[in-house]
Amino acid sequence: MVAAPGMEFLIPTRTSRPADDPIFALNTEARARAATGEAIVNATVGALLDEEGKLAVLGSVAQAIRELPASAGAGYAPITGGADFHRAVIADLLGGRPEAGWAVTVATPGGSGALHLAVGDFLEPHQAVLTTSYYWGPYRTIADELDRSLSTFRMFDERGRLDLADFERKLQGSVEAQGRALVILNSPCHNPTGYSFDDDEWRALVDVVGRAAARAPITLLLDVAYFRYAGSGLDRALDHLLGLAGKAMILFAWSASKSFTQYGLRVGALVAVHPDPDERRRVQSALGYSCRGIWSTCNAAGITAITRALTDPELRARTDAERGALKALLDRRVARWNELASAAGLRYPRYDGGFFTTVFCDDAPAAAARLKAGGLFVVPQAGALRVALCSVAERDIPRLVEGIARQLAR
Ligand SMILES: Cc1ncc(COP(=O)(O)O)c(C=O)c1O
Repeated sequence: MVAAPGMEFLIPTRTSRPADDPIFALNTEARARAATGEAIVNATVGALLDEEGKLAVLGSVAQAIRELPASAGAGYAPITGGADFHRAVIADLLGGRPEAGWAVTVATPGGSGALHLAVGDFLEPHQAVLTTSYYWGPYRTIADELDRSLSTFRMFDERGRLDLADFERKLQGSVEAQGRALVILNSPCHNPTGYSFDDDEWRALVDVVGRAAARAPITLLLDVAYFRYAGSGLDRALDHLLGLAGKAMILFAWSASKSFTQYGLRVGALVAVHPDPDERRRVQSALGYSCRGIWSTCNAAGITAITRALTDPELRARTDAERGALKALLDRRVARWNELASAAGLRYPRYDGGFFTTVFCDDAPAAAARLKAGGLFVVPQAGALRVALCSVAERDIPRLVEGIARQLAR
């Protein structure tokens, strides 16, 4: 017997979900065309590829995974990841700063898991996360999944700098409408624009959040997925942001995906910083409870291997050196891009490191389709094309820049 026509099993909000992630779909198409021998430049992939187009993998971390005893992956990890992992992540993020003593953390499946926990535990159902107008698409997916929504503030003002006036307006709006706010920011090396906030922007941003936090509970989550590829690391952000600890709830979405080139290992953490031990205890309990209720425990082998890569002095030194070489490779592409793209008159935000940049353009879907016809794959976004330099060989950058400049000049 089959169900009566018209009978719907999925709940209404789930009946018209897109079947494929658009970036993954573009990547699949680019690879299929490259496999036929066509000269394709695939600037869609959010993973660091070497100059031959192969996934760049840190040998030191791969070795740490290979050397794990069978029991390390077979047994369950502790629900929140265990004390060794906690200490290692907090030290990686906050180093010797005194605020490290105010941090609690739980393991998550990648930075995505950390974002999911934050949205579920710091916003009520049907409330909206606030983020920049250019943002990583899964922020919206995660909010949707949790029956929350996403609102944005204009990312860049007329001078191409962070639009803090609009941020303040939208943050006030969130506080008035919801009585609370969760702000997600991604710096350094923002995906998709490549932008990193400078000192003035951080200073002003912290002032805005401080004012709002005097009126309502504000949670500020900094997504640090790419911080290891930034010129100045995380110090600039921390110097400013930690001054808010105690006024606002400061969260970090930490991820091993990019910093350890282990995207598939699914290791990440949500870190919360607050000076009040009672507040920390409640947050830690709420997060641990959510972990158990959503994914139970994380990848035990991954947690053990990444903890070792962070804490074993010899392994850590090798990992830092190998990552330094990968960062240098990426920095060379960024320098080449900046040299050629600015000469070609492309409009894009300040870009001094990281996996992506975006080129502003009016009809991004049409421009991306024309580029694709010519073998250049980029990701169309509202008002911009995302270019993943992390996956483009340095020798292909001239062709990519010329192609984009030609299409945008039409
Ligand atoms: C901005 C941003 N945040 C977080 C992540 C989290 O990645 P993962 O869940 O693999 O750690 C990514 C991955 O592409 C990202 O681009």
